[in-house]
Amino acid sequence: MDSIITNNYPIHFNNKAYEELNIFVEKNNFSKIIVLTDSNTKLLCLEKFYSKFNKTCDIANISFNSGEKNKNLSTCEDLWTSISDYGLDRSSLIINLGGGVVTDLGGFVASTFMRGIQFINVPTTLLAMVDASIGGKTGIDLNNIKNQIGVINNPSMVIIDSDFLETLPLEEIKSGFSEMIKHSLITGIKYWDSMKLININTFCPGNCFFNSILIKSKIVDNDPFEKGLRKFLNYGHTVGHAIETYCLNTNSRKDLSHGHSIALGMIIEGHLSTVIHNFNKKLNLEINRFILINFEKIIFTDQEIEEIIKLMRFDKKNKNGQINFVLLKTVGEPVFDQKVDVNTIKKSFKFLNEFS
Ligand SMILES: NC(=O)c1ccc[n+]([C@@H]2O[C@H](COP(=O)([O-])OP(=O)(O)OC[C@H]3O[C@@H](n4cnc5c(N)ncnc54)[C@H](O)[C@@H]3O)[C@@H](O)[C@H]2O)c1
Repeated sequence: MDSIITNNYPIHFNNKAYEELNIFVEKNNFSKIIVLTDSNTKLLCLEKFYSKFNKTCDIANISFNSGEKNKNLSTCEDLWTSISDYGLDRSSLIINLGGGVVTDLGGFVASTFMRGIQFINVPTTLLAMVDASIGGKTGIDLNNIKNQIGVINNPSMVIIDSDFLETLPLEEIKSGFSEMIKHSLITGIKYWDSMKLININTFCPGNCFFNSILIKSKIVDNDPFEKGLRKFLNYGHTVGHAIETYCLNTNSRKDLSHGHSIALGMIIEGHLSTVIHNFNKKLNLEINRFILINFEKIIFTDQEIEEIIKLMRFDKKNKNGQINFVLLKTVGEPVFDQKVDVNTIKKSFKFLNEFS
């Protein structure tokens, strides 16, 4: 795959990526390097990474417990302390080797340590490859609200090695696939038509994978600070983030992956699109059926729907407390800043509950 050169940093793929990484590290003469992992990527990805990386300076691994629950201030504090103890300075580098939790949190830790040191993202989940590692959004959750604290700051480079997907569980592949589906729905019917042919059980990183990365990076290049176009990437996310947060913090519900939550979010927001923008019901049905082949449907009780809607009020996209959505006029024609009243939102949750 050809490298993608964004306005601010390059995205390199597979073997060529390591060549570029090794040149970059040698040229920059870093004082020290930390490779940040979570407990799973330490076990499953670190050795693979080290085998292709020329260690030309002092390098150490720091790890934290995996999972969204640890994408918080307390983990950051531990990491800031560890990297300070290890003697990182302003000419040091952090390499984030992991999924979106590692790239979000590691990017934030690097961006704030000594007012910012360089970092490189080496995503190891499909979701981080096609989405989280690209675009410069870094951050952590606070008080059960996703990504409430953070900064936009770009990595120096993104290294995509699809071999890391070999150890990734199917559920996590599906999670990344959900963001790929979103990319197709906001981009156009041609891309959706190729997306719907993918069988997730035999997923391999081909054209759709590359297109997804290209779409994300092009959108971000055109609107790095989310004033317009970049908002389209939030399709499915107003509802999805609230569902993810609700499940994460409710004992009676098992945690839902980011992508699974966004998939359910897309069904609900797709229905809102049919109500508010007359989005074609037949096309929406086709999309919903495809989503539910890949993701388990979850039925939420009335009480849970109330709680999830409460959480939506904290969404960063809102203005003056009104819940704000990205909706579809059709595939490839999203619209942002769409206000929707609570009763209509509740009806769309009912639509998901009753969909078969
Ligand atoms: N910054 C952005 O623009 C952006 C965009 C989308 C999502 N996100 C964030 O990304 C996060 C979700 O990312 P994620 O789905 O990658 O979650 P994750 O980082 O928690 O990874 C999912 C699981 O897979 C494990 N894992 C990672 N790589 C593996 C591998 N190669 N083999 C086996 N296991 C592996 C992890 O340890 C974890 O248990 C959320 O916090 C979300 O908010 C950020």
